[in-house]
Amino acid sequence: MQFIPSDYFCKLEKADIFPDQPRPLEIDLGCGDGSFPVAMAEHYPERDFLGLERLLGRARKAYSKACKADLENLKILRLEISYALDWLLPDACASRIHLLFPDPWPKKKHHKRRMVSQYFCQTISRVLEPGGEFLFKTDDQEYFEESIGVLLREERLHQMHWEEDAFFYPPTDFEKRWLKQGKPIQSARFKVID
Ligand SMILES: C[S@@+](CC[C@H](N)C(=O)[O-])C[C@H]1O[C@@H](n2cnc3c(N)ncnc32)[C@H](O)[C@@H]1O
Repeated sequence: MQFIPSDYFCKLEKADIFPDQPRPLEIDLGCGDGSFPVAMAEHYPERDFLGLERLLGRARKAYSKACKADLENLKILRLEISYALDWLLPDACASRIHLLFPDPWPKKKHHKRRMVSQYFCQTISRVLEPGGEFLFKTDDQEYFEESIGVLLREERLHQMHWEEDAFFYPPTDFEKRWLKQGKPIQSARFKVID
């Protein structure tokens, strides 16, 4: 389903997104064509998923995949990630936040556009519930190292091991592309501590 907030200038309640409470909420930042949240929502019917995507074409694809799969536990919000995190999503609402293959902006002059910053780390620590997790994957080694440095400086985030088969975690659309090209994938998992 599409999620359209009734008021874009007011903080949401978790129940505004999924009225059936209490269920864990997972947020996919930059969900692209929706393959990942669709597979997750099918696998975990007892959890709710919100996919954020700013590009209309990709948001529509994600929405149509969710509708075809007849998933009541997945909603797609077409919006800028930073706006949703800063102005709409309430504190401690999410059990997991996924940031999978964000644009790495490899040119130095574009580094300021990268998603993972000190402010971003503070924000996800606020939106995640205590004990909640942030999961991050990229094919860009330099961006990965820079991001890990920034994430480790956020005192509420604690890095955890992430073994490949620790839990069901399907490859995303972009991940499949990079794997086909033989690119190594970097993954990191952080937990919010009190
Ligand atoms: C490289 S793609 C990865 C898509 C998906 N996560 C995957 O792994 O297949 C990055 C996605 O994030 C979206 N995106 C980038 N910056 C965004 C922002 N600030 N707000 C919302 N979506 C954003 C892009 O439009 C794009 O669909």
